[in-house]
Amino acid sequence: MKVKLLVLFILAATVAGEQQQQQQQQQQCSSDSGVFFGPKVHFPDDGSHNDNVREVLMAMGFAPTDTAADANLIWARWDPFEKNHASERMQKAHEQLKRLTNHQLVNQVPGLGFLVVKSELAKMSSSISAIPRTFQLPEEHAAWQQFISSEAGKEMEWVRKNAAHRGVQIIPDLAAPQLQELQGVLVQQLVRPHLIGGRSWDVGVYVAITQLEPLMAYVFTGSVLLRFCSKPYQRDITPDTDISTYVVTGLDDFTPGPQVDAMQPHYDDAYADTAMGSSMSLAALRGQLGSAGINTTKWWLDVQGTIVQVLQEAVPKMEAHRSYYYPAARANFFTMLRFDFMLGEQGNSYLLEVNHSPGLHRPDIDLSQQLLSRKLVHDLISLKGLGPEGLHNQFTNPTLTPLKYHMDSLCVGEPDCGSNCSEGKDCLKPQCKLCKKCKSLWQVVVLTNVQAEHQHAHAFMRVHPPHKALAQHLDDAGVDWQAYFDSEQRPDSALVKMWLDKKCEQDFCWC
Ligand SMILES: *[C@@H]1O[C@H](CO)[C@@H](O)[C@H](O)[C@H]1NC(C)=O
Ligand SMILES: *[C@@H]1O[C@H](CO)[C@@H](O)[C@H](O)[C@H]1NC(C)=O
Repeated sequence: MKVKLLVLFILAATVAGEQQQQQQQQQQCSSDSGVFFGPKVHFPDDGSHNDNVREVLMAMGFAPTDTAADANLIWARWDPFEKNHASERMQKAHEQLKRLTNHQLVNQVPGLGFLVVKSELAKMSSSISAIPRTFQLPEEHAAWQQFISSEAGKEMEWVRKNAAHRGVQIIPDLAAPQLQELQGVLVQQLVRPHLIGGRSWDVGVYVAITQLEPLMAYVFTGSVLLRFCSKPYQRDITPDTDISTYVVTGLDDFTPGPQVDAMQPHYDDAYADTAMGSSMSLAALRGQLGSAGINTTKWWLDVQGTIVQVLQEAVPKMEAHRSYYYPAARANFFTMLRFDFMLGEQGNSYLLEVNHSPGLHRPDIDLSQQLLSRKLVHDLISLKGLGPEGLHNQFTNPTLTPLKYHMDSLCVGEPDCGSNCSEGKDCLKPQCKLCKKCKSLWQVVVLTNVQAEHQHAHAFMRVHPPHKALAQHLDDAGVDWQAYFDSEQRPDSALVKMWLDKKCEQDFCWC
């Protein structure tokens, strides 16, 4: 029994599998210094641009290592899956990705292109209503024209976008023959923005993906990246219109919230220090929108619902990519993304784009953005079980760990498990799936991780599997989010959902 439990812990503590010698060393160190904890982080790009990340990780007890193979955490600023790298250091880190062991985590997931590339997001616009309808030219010219005629009578405005750029150029004549000739251009339905203080704005919402299958995703509720256009909005968009009246064109090209008069009073009721610079604040934004008559409960649920829909569509493709190229690395990858939304003048939210590497690394940003970046890194690391409270303490603190991860809480006490479910065929019955004897070792590891994430979520809130209010909201909107949890296609996702539903019945904190 002891051996079995130990095996479980080795697997569960994705970071913990150091060699015994090292453990003994660490334990010796800990009795000397009172510090138990020494995971190592490797920065493939040497870390010199990672000030925010580096400082938070060091404060959380990480030690830097120059050898990717030794690291518990590989923190890459850019795509480490790309084959050709300039430096030997990056090349080595890339090679290590094929040889990851249980105790090594990587802050990027392979196959992210399915989410962050505009033309991929555009494909989802036919099934997800919060993505403005988008067609790619010239391939989809006919489909676009057909869509326009099928929606005849609805007032629609269209803009063209270059795949590489966020600019906007209105299309005055939708039937113009030269449109058929355009190469590499996206045409998108124009969304008129809900203005604050006469300005268009967007809001970046941070999302952590801690695992691909079962898909576990969390939204950051601590704050948002709030940006106002650098120039006041002009309703008449002509080819000469400066695009910075309509969209925030870059990380630097925006007006800080405190400089927008309509926002000012709402900062007084938030903990954002307006002297700090751009002052990211979800609370101030909610206050302002609420005062303008927007139902902010609905707004925030809409945002989460769109995140769920997009992830359900993209993540299975990412997971297929992962299992093909990195078959052994089932539990090693996690990441954080930023979903940028705008609010339309009719009160609906629209997803503009998804970013990876969401501006965490820049040391030159103002203090409020810097604090936000640091808080994000801290909470992400804790959520993933890497912080001082994390699962890796399994080995370093043999007294406390069994208390924290008491295995009994993985069971929910299904009535049939006692007598009506025997191992084997009975395990296929829905009422038996949560029984201890019916769970695979991998599924126990998964639930252990889900439980640990719940305990260490800090400002992250689970959106996948959807929490109860979100599930209700999606149901009300007629979104079929439940199909994802089909137990034949995705047994692990189905199990996690079933388990979370039971936990929620027993304790509303899990809802
Ligand atoms: C705001 O939206 C939520 C969620 O859709 C809804 O339950 C609530 O009734 C709405 N509040 C008002 C005042 O309409
Ligand atoms: C076990 O199965 C029997 C026969 O199907 C049923 O009558 C009984 O209620 C079940 N026991 C529990 C605890 O559900």
